Amino acid sequence: MHIVVTGASSGIGREIAKAFDGEGRRLSLVARRLSLLEELRAEMRGETHAIRADLADPADQLAWLREAEEHFGPVDVLVNNAGVSYVEPVQGIDRERIATLFQVNVHVPIAAIHHVLPGMLARRSGVIVNIVSNAAFSPAPYFCHYAASKGALGNFSESLRMELRKTGVRVLSVYPGPVETPMGDRNWSQLEQSASSRLAPIGDAAVLAKMIVDAVESGKARIIYPRFYLLGWWFPWFGRWVAERFVPRATGAVTPPLPGDLEQRH
Ligand SMILES: NC(=O)c1ccc[n+]([C@@H]2O[C@H](COP(=O)([O-])OP(=O)(O)OC[C@H]3O[C@@H](n4cnc5c(N)ncnc54)[C@H](OP(=O)(O)O)[C@@H]3O)[C@@H](O)[C@H]2O)c1
Repeated sequence: MHIVVTGASSGIGREIAKAFDGEGRRLSLVARRLSLLEELRAEMRGETHAIRADLADPADQLAWLREAEEHFGPVDVLVNNAGVSYVEPVQGIDRERIATLFQVNVHVPIAAIHHVLPGMLARRSGVIVNIVSNAAFSPAPYFCHYAASKGALGNFSESLRMELRKTGVRVLSVYPGPVETPMGDRNWSQLEQSASSRLAPIGDAAVLAKMIVDAVESGKARIIYPRFYLLGWWFPWFGRWVAERFVPRATGAVTPPLPGDLEQRH
């Protein structure tokens, strides 16, 4: 089984790769920080291939996917996990950052799905996993572009799942609420501390990764984690009410880059 995971160098993607690891599994690990992917490879039992790719680079959006196929053959499970977020007032975010966010969060995942889908349909098997966000159905202030991008990916994912019924190809849509990762921690640090922010349930990346692997194996269509955020799925007005009243104000600082963003410039 060939599994491709984007954003495997850190956080949720790294845990997904580890959770899939096992005999008979061939994993293609994709991210900018090749050194971290190589470190991860050294820990894995199954066959792995590390691919350095900047998904924000529009020059060749899918070179990493072709490389994965050349190395391990057709993709059985595509995990669109890599993502970008900015948490700050909307007016400070320039066009270049907006383009990067939509490129990584929306255009690349959809282009990758278009690339693998004909083969999956011909084989009547395959799973597409999209790591969305609860921001897709519970938009919040200071997350405008992020929520818009995840709304786009989430709706694409849900529509595609319906369209592919009875084809043998499955789609799993994953909607994490806050999860403790470098991105998750950085997002929180962009908001002023408040009683409500301290009460918000925060998830664990390894627990989520195990749920994702179980869902791929069992054929589940959707994961919302931590479970508290199911309230926003079932009662969208409630999620919006909570976001409007309880999401703390942004500090107003420009969202600092994550380590991978800095490495890219060297
Ligand atoms: N943590 C949360 O609270 C939370 C909540 C909801 C949804 N999510 C979603 O979960 C996914 C994973 O996020 P995370 O929390 O695990 O964040 P993370 O620990 O910061 O990991 C992000 C991953 O994306 C990769 N990435 C970012 N920009 C990239 C680029 N231009 N090219 C290639 N790879 C790139 C990073 O790799 P390099 O830096 O090495 O390139 C890294 O492996 C994202 O889609 C995020 O939106 C997270």
